[in-house]
Amino acid sequence: MPGLARAVAVLRSGGLVAFPTETVYGLGADASNAAAVDRVFRVKGRPTNHPLIVHLADAADMSLWARDVPQLARDLAVAFWPGPLTLILKRSARVPDAVTGGADTVGLRVPSHPVAQALLRAFSGAIAAPSANRFGAVSPTRAEHVCADLGDDVDIILDGGECDVGVESTIVNLTGDTPTILRPGGVTAEQLSAVLKCSVQFLGASEIAVPGQLPSHYAPRARVEIVARSEVDERLVDARAKGFRAASIISDAVPLEDLARQLYTQLRGHDADGCDVIFVTLPSDTGLGLAIADRLRKAAGPRR
Ligand code: TXA
Ligand code: MG
Repeated sequence: MPGLARAVAVLRSGGLVAFPTETVYGLGADASNAAAVDRVFRVKGRPTNHPLIVHLADAADMSLWARDVPQLARDLAVAFWPGPLTLILKRSARVPDAVTGGADTVGLRVPSHPVAQALLRAFSGAIAAPSANRFGAVSPTRAEHVCADLGDDVDIILDGGECDVGVESTIVNLTGDTPTILRPGGVTAEQLSAVLKCSVQFLGASEIAVPGQLPSHYAPRARVEIVARSEVDERLVDARAKGFRAASIISDAVPLEDLARQLYTQLRGHDADGCDVIFVTLPSDTGLGLAIADRLRKAAGPRR
């Protein structure tokens, strides 16, 4: 694989590697190198109390990076790893404070993308990585997006083509009384509930318990407005009559998997076209629709 050996050398020397996962591209550093992890925060422009996800090659490594791993975590790992699921567990002593912002928990994920897998296996360590975009912006789902966002601030970008899922991993907290979804994503609430044999809920943006789940996030430059399907055409006409550049994203126009895969590329494309406003309709909060609706609500944000 082109660049793999160099990417491993970069990680070993404390540098930053952008790499594809099945969800979005990550900005990776050696998870056991606090100085390298600090650099991730600086490059992203992210506050240091927003923890990073630690990516592992294999579920067998879970007990190296977490302690008191509950059976539920093992069940979810068997069902969904490698894949778009992040588990919040109690952290082990191995996890540097820099990764978790000093919190006593750690997010672990085993990605399925072949390039991410190859990198993790060749490195034979863990990679701490947020999405490879500047803080608050739309996540990158193509190598070109990373290049446009981070340019020379990253030491190497591994190009694995377009990410298949297109929205970030589902984050499940397993450190509370019951498992809860902190961020809906590629693994659905229905899939989680089926494996755990109980209802697993996403409390939504109104009950923000963790740093990093800000209500305004995942936002393009253009203003995003949530509208009903019946209003879209009229709003486009109105906006254009006022001299604005306006576009729309209609959530029920394509299957949810396709919408998720294309969502961030579409938002970025509208920004590149100089759009002032994007009118979006929300999918229903079931299946992958929950994650898409969450990202669109956050893109619309309370500040607007
Ligand atoms: O799909 C993904 O999860 C991508 C790929 C690269 O793996 N990563 C990603 O990372 O989206 P990031 O940093 O952009 O978002 C991770 C989210 C943040 O909102 C962070 O607050 C939350 O995960 N998180 C990480 N560790 C946590 C912890 N210990 N407790 C609660 N939330 C945590
Ligand atoms: Mg992110």
